[in-house]
Amino acid sequence: MCGIVGYIGSKKVVPILLEGLEKLEYRGYDSAGVAVLENGKLAIEKSVGKLQVLKDKLADGAPQGSVGIGHTRWATHGRPSDENSHPHTDWPNRFAVVHNGIIENFQELKEELQAKGHQFRSETDTEVIPHLIEENYDGNLESTVRKVIDKLDGSYAMVVLSEVEPQKLVAARKDSPLVVGLGEKEFFVASDIPAVLNHTRKTFILEDGEMAVLTPENVQVFDADTGEKITKEVHVVTWDAQEAEKGGFDHFMLKEIFEQPKALRETMSGRLSPDNKRVVLDEVRISPEFIKDIQRIYIVACGTAYHAGMVGKYFIENTAQIPVEVDIASEFRYRNPLVNEKTLVIAISQSGETADTLAALREAKRKGAHAIAVTNVVGSSVARDADDVIYTWAGPEIAVASTKAYTTQLIAMFLVGLYLAQHRDTISAGEAEVIIKAMRDLPQQTQAILDRLDEIKGFVSKYAKCEDVFFLGRSLDYAVALEGSLKLKEISYIHAEAYAAGELKHGTLALIEDGILVIALATQMDVFDKMVSNIREVKARDAAVVGLTFEGNKELAKSVDETVYIPGTHKLTAPVLTVVPLQLLAYYIAVARGCDVDKPRNLAKSVTVE
Ligand code: G6P
Repeated sequence: MCGIVGYIGSKKVVPILLEGLEKLEYRGYDSAGVAVLENGKLAIEKSVGKLQVLKDKLADGAPQGSVGIGHTRWATHGRPSDENSHPHTDWPNRFAVVHNGIIENFQELKEELQAKGHQFRSETDTEVIPHLIEENYDGNLESTVRKVIDKLDGSYAMVVLSEVEPQKLVAARKDSPLVVGLGEKEFFVASDIPAVLNHTRKTFILEDGEMAVLTPENVQVFDADTGEKITKEVHVVTWDAQEAEKGGFDHFMLKEIFEQPKALRETMSGRLSPDNKRVVLDEVRISPEFIKDIQRIYIVACGTAYHAGMVGKYFIENTAQIPVEVDIASEFRYRNPLVNEKTLVIAISQSGETADTLAALREAKRKGAHAIAVTNVVGSSVARDADDVIYTWAGPEIAVASTKAYTTQLIAMFLVGLYLAQHRDTISAGEAEVIIKAMRDLPQQTQAILDRLDEIKGFVSKYAKCEDVFFLGRSLDYAVALEGSLKLKEISYIHAEAYAAGELKHGTLALIEDGILVIALATQMDVFDKMVSNIREVKARDAAVVGLTFEGNKELAKSVDETVYIPGTHKLTAPVLTVVPLQLLAYYIAVARGCDVDKPRNLAKSVTVE
């Protein structure tokens, strides 16, 4: 996720920008840059790599000035490179822009601008913004920015600096964060509070649809739609810088769980047609003939990504009607898999750097398969080696236990399934529309679950001392049970296992007794009665059972000790919602047991060795 810092005042701006960017490093980035107004002209320095590379470049001869903007970039459109780093400018270098978010209609806007003679220097979506400002400039920067944002679809937090109106920074936001810091005759704007805390504790949050105009004298806020002035309430920050990085949450894991509604929106952004009838995956360039001919799909991945693959199998088989095998990447590479030119391999990896996944992908390609990568990191090894890449756009994930990466990988699986199905005519237009509409509801339904956090917290005191937990489910609920049990074991160190509920009686039932907790997932209504029978099997052996089903279901509560309800959705999209209470349960149990939630023992976020 990109980081933005802007400053206007009387101090030397470069050290303030660099220090602010340093405080935003926790957000993850692959390149950085600054733009400063020096003697009335824009001076820009940017470079791929760590902030230190930029600092070294600036060490001798940093531009002098007291107005500037800075940025750390987390690549989405275009690989990490000097050219793609921010700030971006229009061709004559009069307007500089830093941006966080995704401009969905940038291609269309870029083509229009190119037709008018604008020349572009980068592959980014952001670059259309300074060009649009130049094209529409009406003598007043804030009214021009208002006109420009009216043309943008997608999400943005942006700050504009210009040599035309040098004593001014204009900031605007929609769906990406921006805070304003208020000092004595100096003002700050940033993606997050830590970037300004060394200078001021007086801040306010810019809300969606608001614009701020910063000058050395004051800050004024406007409604971007109507242009009306808005009075903001100033908030005095009492957190320390480390707490502020976590946005007020106790751990990155909880913060990332709460980022899921936004992350899900980003993954779907621009990939569902406005009429909800089709999936648009411009980044996938497989020929229609190949899609019709695919004989088998292998999904290769590790850990949480493997569990996303399990959901992918059910989804793709149900929609595209192609046999799907999900393989643990470290097994796949050594088992001589039956791969040929009619095989599609999908490698799922949050980091894009997991050694086993990368090796499995290469092995499949060597045998002639077409490879798609599903990853969160632009320009990662898995992304570079695959034929096509679907980025999940979840933003950096810092906690070792994966949460938002998993749910966004599920969305990517749905997109692939529907995309293949629509090319193979294996899904009716009506059914595709029902699923796409259900997908669109997932972000706000996830938020609804998060809003009822206290219900989940209520279970913790009862179950935090359990030493054995079984997660049961059938069909897609079994796939989610695997992820629920991994979450619990990796952060709370409780022994947890996931079982296909129908398989329990073939051995594992011997372990069920008083003191065992069973989490029973029951969202798949075609096997609901069978699931209830399995729940009775464990209840009869004195296990405590927490059941999970859709709101409005009156049956499950009759067979379990407690029931967790999630909003109703299509059976194929249910995993995205089902997993959220399981993430929260694992988190609060781990906290209650005093575990190091963000950095569990023996585990690493990215495993780049075999
Ligand atoms: C490590 C992490 C897991 C992750 C797995 C795969 O084991 O601890 O959380 O699921 O690697 O990572 P990837 O980056 O390939 O998704």
